[in-house]
Amino acid sequence: MKSAIYPGSFDPVTLGHVDIIKRSAGLTDKLIVGVLNNSTKTPLFSVEERVNMLKNVTRKIPNVEVVSFTGLLVDFAKEKDCHVIIRGLRAVTDFEYELAMAQTNRVANPDVDTIFLTTSLKYAYLSSSIVKEMAQYNGDISKFVPEEVIEQIYSKYGR
Ligand code: COA
Repeated sequence: MKSAIYPGSFDPVTLGHVDIIKRSAGLTDKLIVGVLNNSTKTPLFSVEERVNMLKNVTRKIPNVEVVSFTGLLVDFAKEKDCHVIIRGLRAVTDFEYELAMAQTNRVANPDVDTIFLTTSLKYAYLSSSIVKEMAQYNGDISKFVPEEVIEQIYSKYGR
């Protein structure tokens, strides 16, 4: 594949996301990690913070580019001249939402296909919300997120 987009909110990035990023980067010449700048959600981290965290944790993977986007994913794909979206599937509970999203995107732009990678078993339970919940109550998040972002997450909760 020439290029692919791995989109998400990444609020914050987890080891599960990094697992998908590393494996996707191995499948394509260029992987674009698209960080959604969603005005209807109130994320813990600003879009600039989320982009910088992802740039930091992917700095050793040469074919990864991290950029933010607003609006529709298919428009972002068009802008980047990219025809492939990659998403991770953790469990059957992800399936319905992901299927609807992939089908909607295909109706909106039939030139864009979605490929699903199954999340590695050891991260199947993980989500950004779990990380935030643990960090809020001073739990150990070192098994959930890359080392480089641990301090930044705790500092949001004044630790
Ligand atoms: N490892 C760990 N966690 C994972 C994961 C993995 N491999 N895959 C998903 N998750 C978790 C995330 O941590 C996040 O957890 P949270 O709900 O606790 O925050 C959750 O799954 C979903 O997050 P994410 O993968 O970031 O997806 P999203 O639902 O926030 O965003 C977009 C999905 C960005 C692709 C989608 O909203 C989008 O394209 N938006 C643009 C607008 C658009 O085009 N809409 C039309 C499409 S229908």
